[in-house]
Amino acid sequence: MTYETPLSRETRTVVSPSSVVVGAGAVEQVGEYAARHGTTALLVATEQIFEFHGDKVIDALDTAGVESVSYTDVRPDPTVENIESAYELWKRHDCDVLVTLGGGSSIDTGKGVGILASNDGEIRDFGVDRAGYEGVPEPTPPLIAVNTTAGTGSEATRSVVVSDESTSTKFLIVSENVVPDIAIEDPELTVSLPRSHTAFTGIDALTHAIEAYVSVNAYDIPDSSAEEAMERIARSLPVAWANGDDLDARADMLVGQLQAGQAFTNSSVALVHGLARPLGAQLHVPHGLANALILPYVAEFSAMAAPEKYATVARILGAADESDTTREAADKAAEGILRLCDDLDLTGYLDDFGEVPSRERYLSVVDEMTQDAIDSGSPANNPRKPTSDEIRDLYIDIYDDALAPDSPRRS
Ligand SMILES: [Fe+2]
Repeated sequence: MTYETPLSRETRTVVSPSSVVVGAGAVEQVGEYAARHGTTALLVATEQIFEFHGDKVIDALDTAGVESVSYTDVRPDPTVENIESAYELWKRHDCDVLVTLGGGSSIDTGKGVGILASNDGEIRDFGVDRAGYEGVPEPTPPLIAVNTTAGTGSEATRSVVVSDESTSTKFLIVSENVVPDIAIEDPELTVSLPRSHTAFTGIDALTHAIEAYVSVNAYDIPDSSAEEAMERIARSLPVAWANGDDLDARADMLVGQLQAGQAFTNSSVALVHGLARPLGAQLHVPHGLANALILPYVAEFSAMAAPEKYATVARILGAADESDTTREAADKAAEGILRLCDDLDLTGYLDDFGEVPSRERYLSVVDEMTQDAIDSGSPANNPRKPTSDEIRDLYIDIYDDALAPDSPRRS
């Protein structure tokens, strides 16, 4: 048997933070790392996370002799205005090192500030629709990401997602120049994550791992991260959800989501993320919940095109074993995902975190959602290439099976 890898035929660039500080108490090292890179830190956080953990970070910076100024107005989906206001503080106080405290929203705001600090132009200019991929020319200042979710994996990625309030749309920036320098992963900081967001961010991480693994851009380096991420998330997400104080499960989830971030930033996301943004905008649900509503259906749709990969997904999720043939196992991946989503009562969160339109209204926007999904480029990374009619049918199946109040998964 021969071993095949695209690396024998072409070059890939693997990105990663230069250091990952992981484990209980890791947050105490933020000062030491900041002092290696500068003297005045801009600390970027959401108000709520700052209330929970801001003192710990500021004390650690103080102890290391690093001055700090805080920007704590980050919104859940960070905006152009967030980045511009935080950048004003950066300039006014002559800061030289960025420290983010929080999950993807804080990290993406910090990355945005870094882009403005090192490059000419407005943040909108760096979106992939205007500047293309790798559209940030200059390296950004040192960024230390103290993570509090598990999670977006943004501390390991070259992506920034920004909401443009003037057009009610989001845009994406992708560049290896924005990958954070240091990731601080302290499970004690994730204990405060509510059960709902443990579920949303955990399924987002699982989606990153699965999509990276089955993507047409997959190859052996991100595949190993994706497999290990799936194993950690499958065993520890239900435990972390059921008992948020379980530090072993929280630590396992932090590592799993980091590996999932490393997998997708070096491979790509695919159809689930392509469908999730338009669906999330219609239902006003958090990103992870939108992914959870879509993931089982896309797995069912795609399994035939990447049977070996989906068979491994099914086996890791405990939905298939060695007695199943590859194709039988692949077809069970969706079942395994559904069981995990049902364990975490994900559709139940629609009552508190979403607004489901009537079927008639939903059908009236399905064509627009389909076009938005195709325009995102992510469906093109899927192992089974969907036609626009197939995307439309997926959206309708999801409504009838998981969104409608009387649907099988909600009633
Ligand atoms: Fe995601």
